[in-house]
Amino acid sequence: MADALPFERPGGSEQKLGPTGRPMPDLPEPRQLTQHGHARVISMCNQKGGVGKTTTTINLGASLAEYGRKVLLVDFDPQGSLSVGLGLNPHEMELTIYNLLMDRETRLDEVVVPTGVPGMDLLPSNIDLSAAEVQLVHEVAREQTLQRVLAPAIEQYDVILIDCQPSLGLLTVNALTASDGVIVPLECEYFALRGVALLKTTIDKVRERLNPKLSIDGVLGTMYDGRTLHSREVMERLVQAWGDTVFHTVIRRTVKFSDSTVAGEPITTYASSSTGADSYRQLAKEVLARWPDG
Ligand SMILES: Nc1ncnc2c1ncn2[C@@H]1O[C@H](COP(=O)(O)OP(=O)(O)OP(=O)(O)O)[C@@H](O)[C@H]1O
Ligand SMILES: [Mg+2]
Repeated sequence: MADALPFERPGGSEQKLGPTGRPMPDLPEPRQLTQHGHARVISMCNQKGGVGKTTTTINLGASLAEYGRKVLLVDFDPQGSLSVGLGLNPHEMELTIYNLLMDRETRLDEVVVPTGVPGMDLLPSNIDLSAAEVQLVHEVAREQTLQRVLAPAIEQYDVILIDCQPSLGLLTVNALTASDGVIVPLECEYFALRGVALLKTTIDKVRERLNPKLSIDGVLGTMYDGRTLHSREVMERLVQAWGDTVFHTVIRRTVKFSDSTVAGEPITTYASSSTGADSYRQLAKEVLARWPDG
């Protein structure tokens, strides 16, 4: 790691600390899969805007696909940034996740589209989804709608990543109800921890009332700048507050992420050997190592 600091242990032995101030673990190479299915469903969630939810969904997904996982990305934000970030035109989509949610005649395989990354598919969305939030309020089992819609995908994929919108409304509650785990991206800046208590309360409520299996898979520091004391202090506070839930991997701030969005592809293909791409590959390893059968 470029940011690893040499650290003198009392015994005199030197240990490399990662950017989170803890020793970097040796992450195992992900095992090869001989069959697919029993997907783990993970929501990328933080009601704060612009913290890297969509960037993490695309690039963690692409990295998991590089490791041979079959990945479905779910764009669950009416802004449709995930779909646009993968090169889709929001005005040219015939069917989106909105149709799946609102019309029982629409089948999942009619809406899923392939992405440029082998092994990674997408359930696209556009502004239509904002109407679903209002319409769902009147539905029976309104919190379980996404879970019902995704059920046929569970046996086809190894991982389903849901990109949530920046709010804790009914769409996000649907995402959490459909998930096994949550990843919380947090920007490495002073106010990052603001609002996290509310997010945690929402996750706890969903676990108690709707989805007992829901766990927090990890908290991810994004837009980290190792040259500033500021970024390092925020990481320190994150680890104090969340302990080992914080991923050892942090994502550095680099313009390559916005460049790759303009190009409509993940950084892992747009700038395959960049630090950003490597960080997301490392995150994929860390995520897989945390699952019981990753
Ligand atoms: N590590 C990074 N370094 C620099 N820029 C980044 C990084 N990660 C994301 N960005 C850029 O920051 C902006 C916000 O990122 P992103 O869209 O992933 O956040 P988000 O949490 O999904 O936002 P929203 O809440 O609006 O959905 C984008 O322009 C993206 O390209
Ligand atoms: Mg987003």
